[in-house]
Amino acid sequence: SVQSAVKRCASAPSSARLYSSASTPERKVAILGAAGGIGQPLAMLMKLNPLVSDLALYDIAGTPGVAADVSHINTRAKVAGYAEEKELGKALEGSDVVIIPAGVPRKPGMTRDDLFNINAGIVKNLTSAIAKYCPNALVNMISNPVNSTVPIAAEVFKKAGTYDPKRLFGVTTLDVVRAKTFYAGKTGLPVEQVNVPVVGGHAGITILPLFSQATPAANLSEEDIKALTKRTQDGGTEVVEAKAGKGSATLSMAYAGAIFADACLKGLNGVPDVVECSYVESNVRLGKSGVEEIFGLGPLSDFEKQNLEAMKSELKASIEKGINFANKN
Ligand code: NAD
Ligand code: LMR
Repeated sequence: SVQSAVKRCASAPSSARLYSSASTPERKVAILGAAGGIGQPLAMLMKLNPLVSDLALYDIAGTPGVAADVSHINTRAKVAGYAEEKELGKALEGSDVVIIPAGVPRKPGMTRDDLFNINAGIVKNLTSAIAKYCPNALVNMISNPVNSTVPIAAEVFKKAGTYDPKRLFGVTTLDVVRAKTFYAGKTGLPVEQVNVPVVGGHAGITILPLFSQATPAANLSEEDIKALTKRTQDGGTEVVEAKAGKGSATLSMAYAGAIFADACLKGLNGVPDVVECSYVESNVRLGKSGVEEIFGLGPLSDFEKQNLEAMKSELKASIEKGINFANKN
């Protein structure tokens, strides 16, 4: 149902626990699309994450250079690059977390849905390989349109008999990152203390920041809340227009993707109360087998209730489009 596809997101600041490498379990992370605009900085951020013991970098173009480059960073993770489709299985085998930023980005004037025709096929191929080579991995879907690529992945996994909704995540962390930045900017609150839940999907009006639940609370006018909501919903477009044909958000997305993957790793490692946002499931508590608990939406303002209603038909259509694609092709 649409309701079950509405993410619930009250991200807490990542905990700053430190692990000694002696007590840190082995964890393999694979990035599919690792040589792209997001993939490269994300590969670097995952190489810097002490929870990662093995980092598999897969892309159909440019992988050897990126893998050699990242591998020289003197941190724990062993880096391996995989460049051709026949190497995809090796890249995936044994992965605990698979992050997918493979596919084309938007240019000015396009919607995320305009990427469907190219990216749906890419996502279908990659998730079919995940079902075969690492069916128990936590899958972090970044490729757009997220509102449809996550349902495609779910259908692929269902057909393969490996679907577990606790292990499939649409990465919407960038919406939270933006909402926090814009809220802090408007209120003057220190950004590192700010928390803003964001619910819904990841496109236009399906992105719904809940400023009524933002902490610390601030007395913002209705106009200010409307403007902050719109800016968060249009955050991706703001970057696409500023890049003027050279793609969409890559650096802030790599940052957001690294936060979400880190939360997945912490959950797998048994760190309690890891709370992050995700599309398809909701605000989730991450544990050893993925999602442990989905949080409710909490009390919504009238403005937020209207926006939630308004997004449902678009979200439902995007979900159905993904399901139909996966079942027809
Ligand atoms: P990019 O073009 O710079 O990089 C994409 C990479 O994917 C390229 O290196 C390409 O070779 C690779 N690729 C293509 N097909 C592949 C396949 N079958 N297997 C493996 N790799 C493949 O694009 P980008 O800026 O990194 O964006 C990637 C995707 O992420 C886009 O769809 C974009 O819309 C999406 N995105 C999502 C969010 C989000 O919040 N979820 C944010 C930003 C971008
Ligand atoms: C974003 O929110 O930045 C991404 O979804 C990329 C885009 O096309 O806007």
